Amino acid sequence: MLVTGGAHRVGGAISRHLAALGARVHVAYHASADDARRLVDGLPHGGRAYASNLVAADGAERLLAACAADGEPPDAVVHAAASFLARPIAQTTAADWDRVFALNTRAFFLLARGFAARHGVAEGGETGGGDANGGGGGDAPGRDAERDLSLVAIADSGALELWTGYAAHCVSKAALLPLVQVLAKSLAPAVRVNAVIPGPVLPEPDSEPGQVEAMRRRTLLQRVGEPEDVAAAVAYLLVNRFCTATLLEVTGGAHLWRGDLGREGEATES
Ligand SMILES: NC(=O)c1ccc[n+]([C@@H]2O[C@H](COP(=O)([O-])OP(=O)(O)OC[C@H]3O[C@@H](n4cnc5c(N)ncnc54)[C@H](OP(=O)(O)O)[C@@H]3O)[C@@H](O)[C@H]2O)c1
Repeated sequence: MLVTGGAHRVGGAISRHLAALGARVHVAYHASADDARRLVDGLPHGGRAYASNLVAADGAERLLAACAADGEPPDAVVHAAASFLARPIAQTTAADWDRVFALNTRAFFLLARGFAARHGVAEGGETGGGDANGGGGGDAPGRDAERDLSLVAIADSGALELWTGYAAHCVSKAALLPLVQVLAKSLAPAVRVNAVIPGPVLPEPDSEPGQVEAMRRRTLLQRVGEPEDVAAAVAYLLVNRFCTATLLEVTGGAHLWRGDLGREGEATES
């Protein structure tokens, strides 16, 4: 399996959780090379760390090609890499918008497209003509129909809550949801495509105590979750072979927050 943004924080929890369940997990990192190498070195079934820049248009293809070149083509990809841009609408530039969408949304599309091609899956879920070890097309044999191929996108409850101070982030994560579903339709039955929509599970290191308190209050369960809650949801979607096009909220109920429930602190955005 391959986890983008898998070196640390929530992605790290996903990598460790899947490895503990028996998977050989590869981690794609951007800046956190040391964290990535340390993490894969400690995994029970080994794994490799891959440098990647998924903002770049060719980042997804380069990453999949690097895995294939090592004889490690993933049968599942979890896209946890993301930008979390806090920026009011008036200050959000075109470059900000493009960068956030490139990583949060487009990279998942490009990973899915490349993954399908490398596994010989054409639109409509038809198989044959690809090669999990090489590229799509050519004379390569078709894929093993029994092999479970799966993609999981990590969205964000901001996709549903729509925080005005994080417009590019929220809209890019919202766009992931129909993207997951159109990919699920397009690649079925060969590839399952699902999403986890986490609520607050691991505040940014520089979060103010008041911000964390506001996150807590926005959940129905009145607490912030744990990265492992997200990791367990990812594992569920990877294991359950009847799940595709599933959008699984793991938010403590925060996705129902609308800021008007009348409890102190709920009108605060972050
Ligand atoms: N934390 C939460 O409470 C929470 C809540 C809801 C949803 N989520 C979602 O869960 C996922 C992980 O959250 P997090 O808080 O752990 O995220 P994070 O700390 O912001 O980490 C972002 C990850 O994205 C990677 N990344 C950044 N730029 C990249 C690029 N150009 N190319 C490739 N990778 C790049 C980073 O890799 P390097 O460190 O190697 O640069 C890092 O691993 C995200 O999708 C996030 O939106 C998190």
